[in-house]
Amino acid sequence: MITAKIPLATPDVARHYDELDEFYRDVWGDHVHHGLWDDSHDDHSVEEATLHLLERVTSRLPLKPGHRLADIGCGYGASSRWLANHHNVHVTALTLSERQAAHARLAPPPVLGSVEYLVQDWLENSLLDASLDAAIAIESLAHMTDKRRFFQQLHRTLKPGAHAALAVWTVAPDPNWIEQRLLEKICEEGRLPGMGTLQEYEELAKDCGFHITEATDLSAQVERTWWIIARRVLLGLFTKPRYLRFILSRAFR
Ligand SMILES: C[S@@+](CC[C@H](N)C(=O)[O-])C[C@H]1O[C@@H](n2cnc3c(N)ncnc32)[C@H](O)[C@@H]1O
Repeated sequence: MITAKIPLATPDVARHYDELDEFYRDVWGDHVHHGLWDDSHDDHSVEEATLHLLERVTSRLPLKPGHRLADIGCGYGASSRWLANHHNVHVTALTLSERQAAHARLAPPPVLGSVEYLVQDWLENSLLDASLDAAIAIESLAHMTDKRRFFQQLHRTLKPGAHAALAVWTVAPDPNWIEQRLLEKICEEGRLPGMGTLQEYEELAKDCGFHITEATDLSAQVERTWWIIARRVLLGLFTKPRYLRFILSRAFR
């Protein structure tokens, strides 16, 4: 597990998303997660590619109309609304960020199913035991301060035999010294208390009572996202004065 070398608590993660709300929406859009480009979707825009990742991650969930789901770390709720619209399911969408939830509530509600947005810490969530038919967590696990508790809560709230689909940032098992320092810095700046290896997460999940049905490394198919984001940030720095003002105003924090 790579961990941030500064203490990070749940309110730090909430503050990160509240403070950077405008920039996340500008640079990432409503889906705050990677895009997926594979052979058959190589010409996709980043917006199409983020949807493709969502489709890929949720494709093995046996969803039926009327099912109850949790979207753990829902961001602006785009994945929750997509699931409701495409599968006619009811989604409880949790984020730590008031601003994300406020923006999500302004979006047109799904035509099918429903989405309820909660500003709530998943690690202390109020969902009832065995109340969920399925759950998704798209790129939120790295933000959790207690990874075991993440899986314990997942196990508590899912019905026996129910499925979860996670998209997770993982680290290679043997990073070199430079990679290790770089990853620690990413953890600190991204408010990620820790990032585990795939094996560490699999072991934790199994310890908490899960059976793993599929685990796939999609790194090569998602990495293009970072070039696109970097380009958008650089362009913003040159064309939008508020980018520079924002960065300078926070430079000492
Ligand atoms: C990288 S964003 C991903 C957002 C969304 N899943 C998406 O793909 O667009 C991480 C999200 O996880 C949420 N998050 C992080 N830790 C959380 C926690 N302990 N409880 C609830 N949400 C959490 C953040 O508030 C943020 O919305």
